[in-house]
Amino acid sequence: MHTEVVAIDPSHPDPAVVKRAAEILCAGGLVAFPTETVYGLGANALDPAAVRRIFAAKGRPATNPLIVHVWDEEAARTVVTSWPPYAHRLAASFWPGPLSLVLPKSDRIPPEVTAGGPTVALRVPAHPVALALLRACRLPLAAPSANRSTELSPSRAEHVLRGLQGRVEMILDAGPTSGGLESTVLDLTVAPPRLLRPGLVTPAEIEAVIGPIVLGDGARGLAQPSAPLKSPGLLERHYAPRTPLECVEQSAQGVVEKWQREGLRVGWLRRGGAAAQSVEGLATRVVVLPDEPRGYAAGLYAALHDLDEGGLDRIVVDMPPATQEWLAVRDRLRRASQPT
Ligand code: TXA
Ligand code: MG
Repeated sequence: MHTEVVAIDPSHPDPAVVKRAAEILCAGGLVAFPTETVYGLGANALDPAAVRRIFAAKGRPATNPLIVHVWDEEAARTVVTSWPPYAHRLAASFWPGPLSLVLPKSDRIPPEVTAGGPTVALRVPAHPVALALLRACRLPLAAPSANRSTELSPSRAEHVLRGLQGRVEMILDAGPTSGGLESTVLDLTVAPPRLLRPGLVTPAEIEAVIGPIVLGDGARGLAQPSAPLKSPGLLERHYAPRTPLECVEQSAQGVVEKWQREGLRVGWLRRGGAAAQSVEGLATRVVVLPDEPRGYAAGLYAALHDLDEGGLDRIVVDMPPATQEWLAVRDRLRRASQPT
């Protein structure tokens, strides 16, 4: 299959391009499109055959359910059997935005989307291109991150092309995404609600709207940095570069020096600040991200994609502090470091 890459203005998407993409989706095809978090691989969520194509293109296990994207709260309510007051308050506060809500699914959503389960994860993406596409289709779109299963999520169209060339009909290229990390996934089918995947919306922001939530396995990153995460449908190794990656609490300088002495080519991912300057030459490559969670998240996947393309033997990361604001970043880094 030929994959067409079409440039599109991120803030004023060309209606003619949106229409062509919508036609592909309505006909059961696959279109990768930007959201404010990462690029998504979209298909009509009401069409089981189209949804099966997502799993095939990604090489994703059928046991891992997909997030369904809709254009507003009203559209979300048409694919669930209940819409509790919590859901309304969260939608009013965070949609469009990077919060996915898990609710009991209606019969409109085929079991292929939810891995056979009774619930569906829903969100309204805050990106003009994604919203224009959803409104043009008038269909809920199932869209996981547009990468091969277990690999790094794409924050740029080039990343999508690298993984999915020849597997999707169209990629809408609107430049780099602003958020950089995937949405927060919150289960509203349990009381109190439970955080299944930390993301750009923090637990504190959610709790300010609906009161206490259970951080579940996703919160373990705070207390036990090395503990694996176990959430429904969440695989251990995920968001991972092909180059072996190791996370070191605080500074990895000792590890970097040891491996360089052993003749390995080491890429070192650091945070900006005073300490960042004095290490030139210690590693084969040094990449510095902002020492602040939002800026770091926005640049993380592009940094890992770059390091992964750099012909290195190892990537070593200085872990950011074990605080709530770094929860999502630490979660992704830990999964990126799981062995295959
Ligand atoms: O930011 C995002 O969420 C991106 C963009 C494209 O929207 N999408 C994304 O989708 O990250 P994906 O498929 O790569 O991740 C979806 C996560 C998975 O970890 C999956 O297990 C979980 O959401 N999930 C989906 N439906 C669920 C459900 N019904 N119950 C529990 N977890 C669910
Ligand atoms: Mg993903």
